[in-house]
Amino acid sequence: MNILFATSEAVPLAKTGGLADVAGALPKALNELGADVRIVMPKYEEIPEDSLLEFRLIAEFQVSFGWRNQYCGLLTGSLNGVRYYLIDNEFYFRRRGLYGYGDDAERFVFFCFAVMEAVRFMSFHPHIVHCHDWQTGLIPFLLRTRYAFDPAWSYAKSVFTIHNLKYQGLFGMDLIKELTGAGDDMFTPDKLEFHGAASCMKGGLVFADKLTTVSGTYAQEIQTPYYGEGLDSLLRCRSGDLIGIVNGIDEELYDPMNDNALHTPYRSSLSRKRKNKMELQREMGLSESADVPLIGIVSRLVEQKGFDLIAAVLDELLQEEVQLVVLGAGERSYEELFRDAANRYPQKAAFWLGYSDRMARRIYAGSDLFAMPSKFEPCGLSQLIALRYRSVPVVRETGGLKDTVQAYNEYTGDGNGFSFANYNAHEFLFTMKRALCAYRREEEWRRIVENGARADYSWSSSAKAYMNVYAQLLIDRKESEQ
Ligand code: ADP
Ligand code: GLC
Repeated sequence: MNILFATSEAVPLAKTGGLADVAGALPKALNELGADVRIVMPKYEEIPEDSLLEFRLIAEFQVSFGWRNQYCGLLTGSLNGVRYYLIDNEFYFRRRGLYGYGDDAERFVFFCFAVMEAVRFMSFHPHIVHCHDWQTGLIPFLLRTRYAFDPAWSYAKSVFTIHNLKYQGLFGMDLIKELTGAGDDMFTPDKLEFHGAASCMKGGLVFADKLTTVSGTYAQEIQTPYYGEGLDSLLRCRSGDLIGIVNGIDEELYDPMNDNALHTPYRSSLSRKRKNKMELQREMGLSESADVPLIGIVSRLVEQKGFDLIAAVLDELLQEEVQLVVLGAGERSYEELFRDAANRYPQKAAFWLGYSDRMARRIYAGSDLFAMPSKFEPCGLSQLIALRYRSVPVVRETGGLKDTVQAYNEYTGDGNGFSFANYNAHEFLFTMKRALCAYRREEEWRRIVENGARADYSWSSSAKAYMNVYAQLLIDRKESEQ
């Protein structure tokens, strides 16, 4: 079974969030189950040179899209047993960072067309192209239109995974018409049009053979107006082809027993974990104490993650005997919020602005609790990494948070974290206070941590669910071949 994963980011080459974790880890798990999954992504400037030492250029060709004609180099190499293909064009991708440029529409339309052309040079015939988020949304569209009868893609099927419905790749209709060269008939509400704009995500949602998203609860939520981002009715129409498969994490990559970023390796020993807490306190300039409960946050600083709730009760929370360490970057107002808290409570609160894999790992290891009161959360990997590092998640019951964190029940002793239902700041605060009380009861705390440690957050069962999706498509493919 040949699967081409088209993605805009993948660990270990380039990462801004959970998509990169998934695109890096899931192919490994699928290959272990017997698939041949290969990854295609842009060759960004920020990909570390030394990870590409074994990569070689296998083709150079022109990509024509709309009236444009652009160079494309195709490189390939193997990392952690998975074959990667990189789309090289310095004009589009030799820049700082991954996204956020005025010409992102052109960059990712180019990427989609380049993937369609690159397959001719891969010596690999994809049975299925598995696309992720809006940056690759036009691939299913191209497969059904311009490339419908192209031998390089004969009988290929497509899967589109929604990692986050909020980011849709909405651009001016004239621009996308010009870039794709597609006719007016493709820009109607049942195809690419979205309220007068053109939606790259709809290229996936309308044209892919199967749709998946990253948790069962989010699959349900996005079919309602509150979470549907204006696409709920389309998703209801396609509900027969939409399935939710919860993400896992790469347990080798996230292993507190074997993590170079940590001061003291540990697995179950909470006293060894506390050594990492004290190291973190020292590094962040907080008062040093093994006993004080430390809350960690590692996140993009955006509205999605529930920072409005935290802002509303942060002062009240910091009146408790508690410490807070935040790592993240994003919206200015949230950066200010945490910078200000760190200035006002220098012994208790610390803020590290930016993106740092090393700091992230040190916070997962050094924290006792991990806060993630998201407004919506398609899956969330941070709470899974936190559980793996024995940090107890405190979350809102939405999307994948609901599916992976079971609220602790003091009567039965079950549960691996703490959760609340409504998007309400005092519900969050109250839940956090309950968690802090439990922390003080040592036996109870140990039990919650152990409950978290027992569950399986690896990819093994979810990879099987993806294999079933692919297998179903291969049956359909056989039928269309006959
Ligand atoms: P999202 O993809 O919405 O950002 P996830 O929880 O699925 O949320 O995944 C976030 C991933 O990015 C996790 O691996 C997390 O550790 C990492 N991450 C988020 N912010 C930072 C940061 N500032 N520095 C380092 N890693 C980060
Ligand atoms: C998105 C979502 C996050 C999810 C990740 C990987 O970035 O916001 O919830 O875990 O994709 O699927």
